Amino acid sequence: MARVADSEDTGQHLQYKDVDDGTVATYIPELGKANPKSFGICLTTVEGHVFSAGDCDHEFTIQSMCKPFAFQMALEQHGPDMTLRHVGVEPSGEAFNSIEFDQKSGRPFNPMVNAGAIAVASLIKREPVQAGIDAFVAQMGRAAGRKLRIDESVLSSETETGNRNRAIAYMLLNAGIIDERLKESLHQYFAQCSMLVNCRDLAMMAATMANIGRHPMTGEAVFDFQNLKYVMAVMFSCGLYDYAGNWAFEVGLPAKSGVSGGIFGVVNRQMGISVYSPKLDAQGNSVRGILACKELASPLGPACV
Ligand code: DON
Repeated sequence: MARVADSEDTGQHLQYKDVDDGTVATYIPELGKANPKSFGICLTTVEGHVFSAGDCDHEFTIQSMCKPFAFQMALEQHGPDMTLRHVGVEPSGEAFNSIEFDQKSGRPFNPMVNAGAIAVASLIKREPVQAGIDAFVAQMGRAAGRKLRIDESVLSSETETGNRNRAIAYMLLNAGIIDERLKESLHQYFAQCSMLVNCRDLAMMAATMANIGRHPMTGEAVFDFQNLKYVMAVMFSCGLYDYAGNWAFEVGLPAKSGVSGGIFGVVNRQMGISVYSPKLDAQGNSVRGILACKELASPLGPACV
């Protein structure tokens, strides 16, 4: 039996392909070049069956959807105790680029907001810095089941315009959360965000998570199972920033969004789901992505966590 299945239009794709609300992110100029009409939905089961509709081969940068995977790598490399000395696990209720820290501990609230993700990038960077970036891209490629790469134009654009992230990094340095190799930590973070994926990759990476860390088709153990439960818990409570509570209520899946217009979710032990459509709402989440996931959650059942 073929493990890669048909490519047919899903009801959700037909239903929402004409929704035109939202705006494409332009604060990183390269992201503004995205085609606002692009729309893809992909579901990949833990048995390796792939169901796709629309623009599922079109590549875009992973942006904030890199954050759960980087957190997983930090947990695998340093263990939960050491990792949690640098980043908390509390929802912040704030936007992704908020410059707020947990008053009690001085740490970033969680690894899904930029401050926490920069702290995590600092933990997984290597010497030389390219080695840490290569290790991240290689591990993501094992989860996707194909070799992935960085979009150098987006990386330059992101580096040139990333002053708010630089401000956050200096505050983290001041608080002793990251070390003095601040430029390297930022480069690691910017490069992670600039990695190219398509909807199929994201659904396969999510299915690898759902399959307790084992790639559905290659059978390779990509992620350590013990740490995945921490990552999924933080995705559930913090993955959609200041929309996280509504997401938990309406969709009920551990998930992560990114400003390129992607969202992926994990139906534990069952499947990975991804949606790509670059027009975003006020919280920076894909408008069609949210609609499609809400609609998918009803037949799949929201109690998937
Ligand atoms: O830090 C940034 O600005 C981006 N590279 C990542 C932002 C992002 O995707 C936020 N998510 N919704």
